[in-house]
Amino acid sequence: MTSSPSDGADTMNRSSKFTFTPQDKAPDPDLGAERIPVDRYTDPAFLTLEDEHIWSKTWLLAGAVCDVAKPGDYFVFENLRESILVTRAADGDIRAFYNVCQHRGNQLKPAGCGYADHLVCGFHGWQYHMDGTLKHIPEAHDFPQGTPADELGLQKLRCETWGGFVWVSMDPDIEPLIDYLGVIPEHLAPYEFEDMVLVADETVEWNCNWKTSVDIFSETYHVRGVHPESEDIADDVNVQMDIYGRHTRFIAPMYIPSPRKIGDDKALNDTLVDYLKSEGFPVEGFNGDVTTLRGAVAAHKRAMTSENGLDFSNLTDDQLTADYHYNIFPNITFNLFGEQMWMFRHRPHPTDPDKMFFDRMIFNRVPKGEVTADARAGAVDLFVELGDGVVEGRPEHVFYRHGEKSSGLLLDQDASCLAGVQRGLHSRGMKGLWISHHERRIRNFHHWWEKYMGV
Ligand code: FES
Ligand SMILES: [Fe+2]
Repeated sequence: MTSSPSDGADTMNRSSKFTFTPQDKAPDPDLGAERIPVDRYTDPAFLTLEDEHIWSKTWLLAGAVCDVAKPGDYFVFENLRESILVTRAADGDIRAFYNVCQHRGNQLKPAGCGYADHLVCGFHGWQYHMDGTLKHIPEAHDFPQGTPADELGLQKLRCETWGGFVWVSMDPDIEPLIDYLGVIPEHLAPYEFEDMVLVADETVEWNCNWKTSVDIFSETYHVRGVHPESEDIADDVNVQMDIYGRHTRFIAPMYIPSPRKIGDDKALNDTLVDYLKSEGFPVEGFNGDVTTLRGAVAAHKRAMTSENGLDFSNLTDDQLTADYHYNIFPNITFNLFGEQMWMFRHRPHPTDPDKMFFDRMIFNRVPKGEVTADARAGAVDLFVELGDGVVEGRPEHVFYRHGEKSSGLLLDQDASCLAGVQRGLHSRGMKGLWISHHERRIRNFHHWWEKYMGV
């Protein structure tokens, strides 16, 4: 199967006029300075309330378009009590349905992706076409009330595509996806997700609430406490924070240490040198210091494109040497680099507010038209461990619980930290989050969470 995330044409219109990703600082709204209450992280009552006010009222990233690349392909996306079946039917359209048989409610397909000519319920054998219409009911004559096809097709929900991903909404009246996403499509178009290939897909059960995870992926203040290794290679202080309504961004410069780690001589530290070597940067020939390194790295990455075939012409030097980090309300994080894109989905656990599912899909940029990817292209061991192989076809989805297997150093560190945070949030001694200016993406997220929740 081709694994490009954008095999289908997006259902929204794109401007044909190219513009680079805006880099300007967005104005900061005044969101006050109150403590953020903690019962929302710990009280099981919020599982139901969030289902009613957040999960069924927003656009949710359900999966990658590459998993429904051709007619008959389908995948199942699970969120709290809902299981949603996304299909591509013979007419080429991608649709989303509640994954439930209209006879007595059996789930039609388990989580995961696959191919089917049509859908057959495993309970009594009702059959549906991939477009959700009724195909066959065994012993149909035995239903005295009849078997009206317009009544018994699968129940549809809103479904649109953007950025190589399928998005669904349980709210039939929700605004179109492009309006909901605001500035995001314009900002991310230059990354050309259609030139990227899925190389890793995993779900890790973490011991924290999904919002605790959104919070930690909103700031770099925690780097000094949680990720000491990355202080040597990335600037956690001079990070631009942008708020665009319910969605947000930070731009975190890489290839420059934290100001706390820069000496008077501004020399490259050993960790940074090792990191550069792992990426093939010719450190021996570099005569500059940490203040000129980012420019040299960007120039090197551009020079390498004549060999590796990657196209960086739509990205700025800053984008090639920073983490452009977008949070899309309610639960999506994109980490964008020149060579790679990480999609994180902070998914709620269906019954336990102290657990969540951390979904991670990694896409590598490949030369235009390619459908396979060197798993290590642009991947740095500190962040992700993908192995050395060429990824052909769709990588297998992997599930594990935190601690059973490593997700790479950085995510292991985040997950360990969050387990402790979640325990702390239950304490009588915790009166609410005390949020800094730097952490204002957290405040903005909760501002919008409260708006949706009506609290
Ligand atoms: S529940 Fe599906 S056929 Fe009976
Ligand atoms: Fe972190």
